Amino acid sequence: MTELVNFNGEITPEAEARVPVLDRGFLFGDSVYEVVRTRKGGFHSVGRHLDRLERSAGRIRMKLPLPRVELLERCAETVQAAGNAESYVRIIVTRGTGTAPNIDLAYAPEEPNLIIMVRPLPLPPADLLEKGFSAEVVSVRRNDPRALDPAIKSGNYLNNIMGLMEARRDGADTAIILNTLGQVTEAPTSNLWLVKNGEALTPPPEVGILEGITRGLLLEFGEEGGADGKLSTREQLLEEKDLREADEIFMTSTLMDIAPITRLDGHPIGTGRPGPVTLELSQGFSAWLDQGGGD
Ligand SMILES: Cc1ncc(COP(=O)(O)O)c(C=O)c1O
Repeated sequence: MTELVNFNGEITPEAEARVPVLDRGFLFGDSVYEVVRTRKGGFHSVGRHLDRLERSAGRIRMKLPLPRVELLERCAETVQAAGNAESYVRIIVTRGTGTAPNIDLAYAPEEPNLIIMVRPLPLPPADLLEKGFSAEVVSVRRNDPRALDPAIKSGNYLNNIMGLMEARRDGADTAIILNTLGQVTEAPTSNLWLVKNGEALTPPPEVGILEGITRGLLLEFGEEGGADGKLSTREQLLEEKDLREADEIFMTSTLMDIAPITRLDGHPIGTGRPGPVTLELSQGFSAWLDQGGGD
């Protein structure tokens, strides 16, 4: 089990890695990032992740330090040096090390900093598909897309941290965050889905969400009818009451694929156990991913 960091091309053990105090990512969250994982040793859906990294950087007018092929080579080199069975790879690009602790871009350098963190892939809890998570609809609201658009995967996660803190304070595992109009958006680091009448529904991008890679893959999987031609997934605007009336709720993310939510605001959802559609989707989707679906 090895944790390594590649800082602008130099690989060191994670414990020895240092980011300069004038780095704009450190000072202001002036950065973008991606989390990629390996599956059977290869980067999974990496093209989609790099597309999103480019989109995020473009939205904050930050240039990426390397062309895509070289960026990928640098990730591969770091993963290889770490030698873990499966890897978590965090690619962070900051607007570089400035000349003063001042947000003014006059103090920003020419070159961004590129940090690649490689760790063993964290496994979801072993009993995830038996127990699921508890969630709370929190009072913290998702950023309005006209402010820091949630579609940008930036290094500023305070809004999500505040949401998660509120949920944890109240004893829930995770938070469900509404937008300023009261519409359902997502969880702090996962997209949200509910199941109604056998269909899995997830909010559309306009409400203010990160368009998760896993979310996109599950929508594609559902469009193809799922593994047995029966499972349907689609976008739909969701209100808080839809959550309360849902048959099942689950989350999606790169690190967990599908994660059931079995309690909402202290009350069991359905039987309080992961529901049949969630389990069937989870099984079919994982098998599809393992066979190279989404690459
Ligand atoms: C806010 C937010 N939403 C959703 C997701 C899930 O996205 P993905 O499926 O690309 O991992 C993440 C992942 O980090 C996230 O941070």
